[in-house]
Amino acid sequence: MTWPDTDVTAALRQKFAAELNPNHDSEWADAFASVPRHVFVPTFYTQTDNGSWLPVQWGDPRYLDTVYSNNALTTQLDEHGIPTSSSSEPVLMLAMLEALDVHDGDAVFELGTGTGYNAALLSHRLGDENVTSVDVDPGLVDAAARRLEQAGYRPYVATGDGAGGWPGRAPYTRIIATAALRAIPDAFLDQAAPGAVIVAPIGYGVLRATVTARGHATGRFLPTPAHFMPRRRPAAAPAFDAVREADPTDTKVSPGDVLDRFKFPLSIALPGYTSCSWRDDDGELTAVGLWTEDGSTATAPVSGAVRQAGPRRLWDAVEDLAATFDGVPRRDEFHVNITPDRQTVWYREPDGPAWELPTTP
Ligand SMILES: C[S@@+](CC[C@H](N)C(=O)[O-])C[C@H]1O[C@@H](n2cnc3c(N)ncnc32)[C@H](O)[C@@H]1O
Repeated sequence: MTWPDTDVTAALRQKFAAELNPNHDSEWADAFASVPRHVFVPTFYTQTDNGSWLPVQWGDPRYLDTVYSNNALTTQLDEHGIPTSSSSEPVLMLAMLEALDVHDGDAVFELGTGTGYNAALLSHRLGDENVTSVDVDPGLVDAAARRLEQAGYRPYVATGDGAGGWPGRAPYTRIIATAALRAIPDAFLDQAAPGAVIVAPIGYGVLRATVTARGHATGRFLPTPAHFMPRRRPAAAPAFDAVREADPTDTKVSPGDVLDRFKFPLSIALPGYTSCSWRDDDGELTAVGLWTEDGSTATAPVSGAVRQAGPRRLWDAVEDLAATFDGVPRRDEFHVNITPDRQTVWYREPDGPAWELPTTP
């Protein structure tokens, strides 16, 4: 079901576009003012205090105001209630589109079609023929194609693992990912034209890189935080049983740092890690847990007694970050150098603290 575009939705959209761009200087202003977000998000889900999800749609009191506001909207849940697709926060979408620095005639590849809203913005700016968008979920691709058509856009959309790009329509002069990656996929570099710009969430930051030669790129992270859902890959399970058996060690690092000041650098040091937290009845943090897909797991209660199990000692990576950073490290001080053999993130100076990204994205 798609909702109509009316005077009311058009007026809300104009106001929304103006609020996104208070200085009236974005070349994306016309796209945000023209593309009807509600057509792409006919239903979204909000979470109640007890964790259950409620659908919100046309006719519900908060529907239109929320769709035309700077909110990320969860649009699909799996059978466990885990979000599997969303329409991202518009301010972040705008920052990423601006970082993409498009020019007329650019050919764009997007990983993560989702609702189709970003593909519509790209089509509005560059023309349908210059936009290719791929999602791993065939149901989402079908729905996005229908909604794009209803809104008057016909970019090329297809089902597949976007980490493979879409070779049939390469080369691309601009590549954007809207699901979090652990590294830049080789296919992006293979399918990029010389000088192409790649904008992609890596961990909890957004990398902007320029392709300098085949297989090579350099770039740095944008200042903005980013919380994209991860590119879908086999889920890792935490090994809490093994952790319980491990000998405890002391730490001087506050477990809460994992959830805020180290959230981004940890996503570079431990690509693809997952964290969880435990809280008491007053909502106070009592412990955090960390795990990676190789089964390595650590728990860190606020009372001390860190326990670690598995092939990697994850809390040691947190301790290393605490030894490296005094305060909150700025994302835009992290740079990236990509060669065909390795992807290296370095902090402030090329010979400063550095981390290798994995060879699989
Ligand atoms: C934040 S949503 C994308 C939002 C979208 N650009 C929009 O405007 O609505 C992330 C999307 O990435 C997709 N995704 C996850 N893993 C993927 C993969 N390996 N290849 C392509 N798409 C993937 C998910 O299915 C989800 O729809």
